[in-house]
This record gives sequence, C-alpha cells and structure tokens, in this order.
Amino acid sequence: MRVLVIGGTGFIGAPVVHDLDAGGHEVAVFHRGLTETPLPSHVVHIRGDRADIRDYTAAFKQFAPDVVVDITPMVEAEARAAVDAVRAVGRGGAAPRFVAVSSMDVYLTYGRLHGTESGAPVPTPLTEESSLRSVHYPYRGKVPGLERYEKILVERVVMSAPDVDGVVVRLPMVYGPRDRQCRLFDDLKRMDDGRPAILLPEGLADWRASRGYVDDCAHAVVLAATHPRARGRIFHVAEPEALSQEAWIRAIAEAAGWSGRIVRVPEDLLPPAWRSPIDPHHHWEANSSRIRAELGFREDLPRFQALQRTIAWQRQHPPAIDARRFDYRLEDKVLARVAS
Ligand SMILES: NC(=O)c1ccc[n+]([C@@H]2O[C@H](COP(=O)([O-])OP(=O)(O)OC[C@H]3O[C@@H](n4cnc5c(N)ncnc54)[C@H](OP(=O)(O)O)[C@@H]3O)[C@@H](O)[C@H]2O)c1
Repeated sequence: MRVLVIGGTGFIGAPVVHDLDAGGHEVAVFHRGLTETPLPSHVVHIRGDRADIRDYTAAFKQFAPDVVVDITPMVEAEARAAVDAVRAVGRGGAAPRFVAVSSMDVYLTYGRLHGTESGAPVPTPLTEESSLRSVHYPYRGKVPGLERYEKILVERVVMSAPDVDGVVVRLPMVYGPRDRQCRLFDDLKRMDDGRPAILLPEGLADWRASRGYVDDCAHAVVLAATHPRARGRIFHVAEPEALSQEAWIRAIAEAAGWSGRIVRVPEDLLPPAWRSPIDPHHHWEANSSRIRAELGFREDLPRFQALQRTIAWQRQHPPAIDARRFDYRLEDKVLARVAS
C-alpha cells in the first residue's frame, strides 16, 4: 500500500514509518522539516506546515496514497483541513482511508480524574463505547499551546467526513525512546542517584492506568491503516494489564536494576507540593480486546525489555532538571517521619 504519514518523524510517527516500511509499504511523510530522524532513504518527504495543508494537495496527489495516517491532529480545524486536503488524492482521485491518532483522554474518566467533571468512578476497564467527556478542551488554561486541543472534536470530524473512510486509534500513556515527556525520568533519576526509597502518595499508589510501548502503539496504528477490518472503526490500544502506580515504579526499578524501597506516604505527612493533582479513585484503564480480536494486535516485546530500551535512551538523553523536584533533604525528612 502507499501510505502518507502526516507528522511521521517524531516519537510515535517515526516508528509508524519504520513499521510500514518493514511491512513492504511505500511511505511519504509530511512535516515541516524541523524534526528529523533517520528514516529509510526511499521514504518520500513532503515538507510543509499543516497550517497550510490544503496547499499541498497536488503533492499528495502525486504520491497517490491509499491511506493517510494523521499522527498529530490536535485541533478540530486542523483535522478538517487535513481531511479536506486529502479527500481526493488517492489513485484515480479516490478517497484514501484516513487514520487519526487520538488519545484515551477523550473518556469521561479523564475529566473526572482531573476534576473538570464531577461524578462517581466510571466502571473500568474502559471500552471503546465508554462515555466520553462532556466538557471539552481539557488543557485550556493549563497547558500553553493546547488551548484548542480536543481529540473528541478531531475524532468527530474524521468519523463523519463524507467520502472518507475514517479510523481512529486512541493511545494510552506511551513510553519509549525519544519520549519528549520523559515519563520515566523522575523515578529513574532517583534510582540512578542511589536513593534508598521512592516516596509515593498513599492515594496514588493503587491508581491504575493503561500504558503502551511506543513500537507497539505504532504497530497498532499500522494495523489500523492497513487491515481491511479496521474500516470505519475506533480502537484503543493498551498493554493487557494496567499496572498500579506502585507496580509501574517497581517494573521500572527491575529494568533499571534498582533494589530500593517504594514507600507509601500517608496524606497527612505529604508536603503540600506533593499532593497529587488527580483524583486517583478514577482508574484510567482500558480493555484492549477489540484491537486484539479484530486486527490481531499483540505486543512485540515483553514489558521488561521495552522498559530497558526506554531506560537506556533516557539515561543518554536526560532532560533539563528542575532541582526543586528532587529535594532529597525533604524526602529524607518525610521518610524519617513515615518510619517513626
Ligand atoms: N505521547 C503520548 O503518551 C501520547 C498519548 C496519547 C496520544 N498521543 C498522540 O500522539 C501524537 C503525537 O505523536 P508524536 O509523539 O510522534 O509527536 P511528536 O514527537 O511531537 O512529532 C510531531 C511530528 O509532527 C510534525 N509536525 C509538528 N508540527 C507540524 C506542523 N505545524 N506542520 C507539519 N508537521 C508538523 C513534526 O515534524 P516537524 O517538526 O519537522 O514539522 C513531527 O514529525 C499526538 O496526536 C498525541 O495526541 C500521544
């Protein structure tokens, strides 16, 4: 197949391109040229800004994709522009399949977890039919640059566009090499600094959330792009078991070779700055049986190895460190209070 990947050079996009290439597909990537990474030399690069994506229809038509994978649709208008730009660029002017990468933040659980919506915990594990948030724009006023981010509206555009064969893949928290969010870093740094213990707010220790290794999430996107049965479907992807926060830190510790203790800190001993901004009664765990049953998805690497690869990359690429987040004298004091 011929696959156009919008945003195919980043953390998730590049593994999607490698996976497609390994599967014998012809790939073109559309991006500005600011994020480069080694890709197979025969991958076609169409360089441009998605803000002007409608101007690139002729270039897309020349490539004539059977499928378009949009890795980074964040905003309703961006999704609409991307769909408009590619709706007739397939062979003979046909509409290609359009796969949008979405997120598990669409679920009502996410709104309740972050306090933008109230109510009792939603039954988990979540399925693709679980309730969605009713309050839109989850990062408005919280994360600069994401004021108009809303995957619910992106999904609606893609799944309702006439003449377009829309498919949606909702990703969990993704970890792996090149993760700019550096999801493992805070715990790994403490382990590598030889800390005797990692302190965990008691309420958070049992909170469960779905995660996925980047190459597995990329493979899920590739199945959504190429599998005949994916047509018109929404899938989420997640490791089979959503680990609790404590079990997740323990898994990182095993892969990192750290044998310290994970200590639960009762709420009344927590310094105010350590109080969790989320309500951990709302587990963010997903049942991934649909993509396994319908598309034959399965993980390639055991989690231990996936974590080892992530840790090796993270050790070589530490982010800028905010020293206030690693106040070991304060941590020692809290540890002493918990022990007494
Ligand atoms: N990471 C997670 O845990 C997670 C969880 C759920 C969902 N997701 C979803 O995964 C996606 C992120 O994928 P990623 O991690 O691969 O992103 P990324 O690392 O930020 O890469 C962004 C890609 O888009 C291109 N790009 C950025 N701005 C562009 C523009 N204005 N015009 C054209 N191309 C542009 C970049 O290339 P240039 O810089 O060269 O343009 C690059 O190829 C998002 O849809 C996100 O919601 C992620």
